Amino acid sequence: IQATQHPQILEGKHLLITAGPTREAIDPVRYLTNKSSGKMGYALAEQALALGADVTLVSGPVSIKALQGVNTITVESAEQMHQAVMENVDNADVFIGCAAVADYKPAELATQKIKKNNTTMAIELTRNPDILADVAKRSNRPFTVGFAAETNDVAKYAKGKLANKKLDMIAANDVSKPNQGFNTDDNALTVYWPEGECALTHGHKQQIARQLLELIHQQLK
Ligand code: CTP
Ligand code: CA
Repeated sequence: IQATQHPQILEGKHLLITAGPTREAIDPVRYLTNKSSGKMGYALAEQALALGADVTLVSGPVSIKALQGVNTITVESAEQMHQAVMENVDNADVFIGCAAVADYKPAELATQKIKKNNTTMAIELTRNPDILADVAKRSNRPFTVGFAAETNDVAKYAKGKLANKKLDMIAANDVSKPNQGFNTDDNALTVYWPEGECALTHGHKQQIARQLLELIHQQLK
């Protein structure tokens, strides 16, 4: 029964997955972050494990309990997530960048709590490393899958990211629609790879995760 419910299609494969938001410190008590819950990345890790994979999950700060059997590395900032991914990418067969990595961090980290002063204030931001692009640039890289969260022109931007970052696959998420994407239990994705595409229609994130992993398995062969 176990085998028919969960055909071990990823047996012997090592999957490295990022999940959740990152936290970019401003001062000792404040940070910049985003609305990611980590649910999609954790669903991918759980389903990959059920399909027989060895799973390493690099997780930003989330309120989901750790998954039994998944090697989880918790991080806060994009820099830390980048480092954890680079330390674990060598033996990965598949990399899935599901985290909502902050594109920018404060240019300077204040060592003491910033006091309020004027009626306006500005925080200068500087770019974070692009973890997904750096994985894709490696010579002996894993099968590399990105996510694209977009509010408009979803297909155009997703296909642009697939081509520009030279990915093997991208899962596009229309986050302008209610009840899919950030901080929800359900999702709907359109998946693109260089020779094709597939719509994964609205469903629970566990079910969408399973379908995405089946697509990855098909393209891996
Ligand atoms: N990503 C990453 N490191 C970053 C930024 C993004 O690894 N510093 C990854 C995400 O995990 C996702 C993919 O890149 O898999 C696309 O993220 P997204 O925010 O949609 O695209 P960006 O390339 O950051 O472009 P923009 O935010 O301008 O749309
Ligand atoms: Ca971004």
